[in-house]
Parts: sequence; C-alpha cells; structure tokens
Amino acid sequence: MSWKELYYSRICTAEEAVQSIKSGDRVVFAHAVAEPAILVDAMVANAQAYQDVEVCHMVTLGKGAYSKPEMQEHFRFNGWFTSPSTRDSIAQGHGDFTPVFFHEVPNYIRKGIFDIDVFMVMVSPPDEHGYCCVGVSSDYTMQGIESAKIVLAEVNDQVPVVFGDTFVHVSKIDKFVENSHPLFELGLPKIGEVELAIGKNCAELVEDGATLQLGIGAIPDAVLQSLKDKKDLGIHSEMISDGVVDLYEAGVINNSKKGLNRNKMIVTFLMGSKRLYDFARENPAVEMRTVDYVNNPCVVAQNTNMICINSCLAVDFMGQVVSDSIGTRQFSGVGGQVDFVRGAAMSLDGKGKAIIAMPSVATKKDGSMVSKITPFIDHGAAVTTSRNDVDYIVTEYGIAELKGKTLKQRARNLINIAHPDFREQLKEEFEKRFCAKF
Ligand code: COA
Repeated sequence: MSWKELYYSRICTAEEAVQSIKSGDRVVFAHAVAEPAILVDAMVANAQAYQDVEVCHMVTLGKGAYSKPEMQEHFRFNGWFTSPSTRDSIAQGHGDFTPVFFHEVPNYIRKGIFDIDVFMVMVSPPDEHGYCCVGVSSDYTMQGIESAKIVLAEVNDQVPVVFGDTFVHVSKIDKFVENSHPLFELGLPKIGEVELAIGKNCAELVEDGATLQLGIGAIPDAVLQSLKDKKDLGIHSEMISDGVVDLYEAGVINNSKKGLNRNKMIVTFLMGSKRLYDFARENPAVEMRTVDYVNNPCVVAQNTNMICINSCLAVDFMGQVVSDSIGTRQFSGVGGQVDFVRGAAMSLDGKGKAIIAMPSVATKKDGSMVSKITPFIDHGAAVTTSRNDVDYIVTEYGIAELKGKTLKQRARNLINIAHPDFREQLKEEFEKRFCAKF
C-alpha cells in the first residue's frame, strides 16, 4: 500500500479516534504547544465511556478539563509537570504528580517505566515522502510515538515544519484527524524595572560568544533584553520563546562560536507566539532534537561558554533552590533546570555557569510580601536544585556566587542581594541559625 493510501485509510473524526482509548489505559499527550486539543476535547467529551484513564504529560497550555473533580471517576491526572489548569487537582488529592528530570522522560518511556497505551500528538500534514513533522515539540514526542501501543494524531496544517529529529512516517500513526487551527500562543511576559535589573545583573555573567539556555517564565526573556550589546551568542536550550527571535534578527545570536552544533540553534520545544513558530518554520538555523539529547547533562557539557539561566520560587540560606513547589503545593516541575545546572557544571571547557535568577520578593495569595531568600525552605516544599549543585543566584540587587562557599558565606552572599526591607530580619535569622555575627 502506498503511504497515501495508508494515510487516507486512517483518517477519521476525533470522536472516532478516541474510541481507541479503553478504561484503565495510560494516555500521554505531547505537551505545551504540541498538545492535540481536538483529541483532548473529544476524549473529555467521551468521558462517560471510560473509567480510571490515567492522563500524563509535561506542560499544558490547555484547559486541563480531565483533571477537574467532576471527572475523577473517568480520569486520573498524573502530571510530570503542573500548570495553572492542572495544579488544583493535585492539591485537592484526586490528581497526582511524578517527579522526573526532563532529559530522562524518553528513557522512562523506552524502559516501560512510563508505559504508554495511547499517545496523542499534533503533527503537520505529510510531505511528498509521507513524513509528518512534530513541529513545535520533539522532546519526548518522538519516543512516545515509537513506544506507544496506539498513536492518535491531530494533523494541523498550521504546525510548522521544523528541521531535526522531528519527522515521523505516516505508517507509525494509527489514526489521523485533520484540522486547521492556530497554535497556542504564549502572551509576552510583563517586563518591568525589577526584571530589567535582574537581566542586567545576569548579563554581567555572559561573555561574547556564550551559548545560552533559557528556562521558563518572565526572567529569561528579560535577560535577553539585556544582551543586546553582546556578540556571537548561541543557543542550546530546552525551549525558546520570542525574545530569541529579536536577538537573532539583531545579529546578536548567530551561533557562530558554538563548540557543539556550530551555526545551529538547538532546541527541544518551542513556546511563544506565531512569530516564533513562523521564524522556526523550515529555518536551517533552527534544529530541534529530542530532550534526551538536548537536556542530557553530558551533551550540555560539550558546549563552550555554556550559560544556563533559570528561575525559582525561593532559595534558603544554604542555597537550596525551590523552583517547583510552594510549601506542599506542587506548582510546576523540575523540567530541565537540574539537567542544565549539572551540564554547565560539567562543562568540558570549565567555563559553564548556571544562573538561577529571581525577583527578591513575591506577593503571596493573601497579598503579603515575602522574601524569596529565606532562612529555611517552607514546610513541605521540595528542593529542586540542591545546595551541592547551586552556582549563581541573581536578584535585582546583585549576584551571589555560591559554589565552593561555606554555609555562612552562602547565607551572607544571599542576604546581601535580598530585598532591603527584609535584610535586617534575615541578618537576625542568620545570627540565630549559625550562632555567629553577620
Ligand atoms: N512564596 C509564595 N509565592 C510565591 C513565591 C514564594 N517564595 N515565589 C513566587 N510566588 C508566586 C508569585 O507571586 C506568583 O503568583 P501569581 O501566579 O499568583 O502571580 C507565582 O508564585 C509564580 O511566580 P512567578 O515568579 O511569576 O513565576 P514564573 O512564571 O516566572 O516562573 C518558576 C517561575 C520558578 C515557577 C518557573 O521558572 C519554573 O517552573 N521553574 C522550574 C522548571 C525550570 O526551571 N525549568 C527550566 C527549563 S525550561
């Protein structure tokens, strides 16, 4: 049978496609912008047909309807990362969370630790050779397609063809649902004075010719705005968003000095606006590789002048970084933070730096301000980056270098970049905690 005959014989409606899901199955979807919304909606609409279907994925930008309390008889959410629409299900007890380093997800799938019954993905229409492109998300998508018992695909003609480890032959997919729908777009982050000051401090640690990884949240984009005067920057990053396009178009990012994959921007997923997706479309300067390559600390370490910039929720006096929980509330996930922190530390040229950048204060749900630099982590919070791994912490008030520093030196360096309104209180805590003068 030709690929065309195969493809047309497998086209169906979303309602028909989700009949393949059976009670007790584990359903995994491609994440972030690659979430196949038409299939997810059809699965939720068909909820009465299922009991105890486990739903897993990393980031979602979608409605997360399967994670709502009224769905608990039908679906059980088990996040590998949590997002605004899925967090409550874990806090309320009917959802759950599995901690996992992002670079290990394909390996978990391969080994059957994350055994997948049904994988749901969004792809571009097939090309003349019968290959669809996974477009905005190669990460664990390629392994999901390879290992799942059944693969369902939304074929969306708005998915950009992006080069790299992104092409899947139609024979690997069991059912196709054709659709034409704009991709999820992420609003531009709010960048105020605090974010710009953080960006300027981070920029001090970035040399011309550096290779950058940029994490999730407003801070990485703010940092990019402060790098306009740098030269010959490169990208080796789990994700990129719109800020990278500005710097590429300004000629600041050109990937020309990279030690690995020179002249190519290496990413594993895209999350931004249509401008970013159009930029990546058939762009020979952008190569998308699976997350077990991009985030693998041993691969990260092969880059030269590797600078990793991620964010966090809180840091304690010892430098324990909390990035994915607020007390017992699961807020996000480790994602690629530790993958890159460790990769930078292992850099073969000895020049890698891992920056955790954050505003010095946060506003709590009750409206009160808290210092993000604290003597102790909150009860129930999980350490994301350990005190042994932590390198630089940056706030709008400066840079705290922590590697090789004693507990007291760490605490002093951190208090010196805390918000001035909290410094006195933190100094008192220091003296109690360490039985020593500040
Ligand atoms: N105590 C209580 N609340 C806090 C807090 C603290 N110490 N720090 C932040 N918050 C609140 C904020 O006020 C904000 O509340 P809101 O949603 O009601 O406005 C919320 O938590 C989110 O904080 P914010 O700083 O706006 O988050 P962000 O979008 O910039 O993301 C992380 C920051 C840390 C959550 C995000 O970077 C993350 O998930 N990191 C882990 C994964 C990772 O680093 N991956 C990197 C590779 S992509």
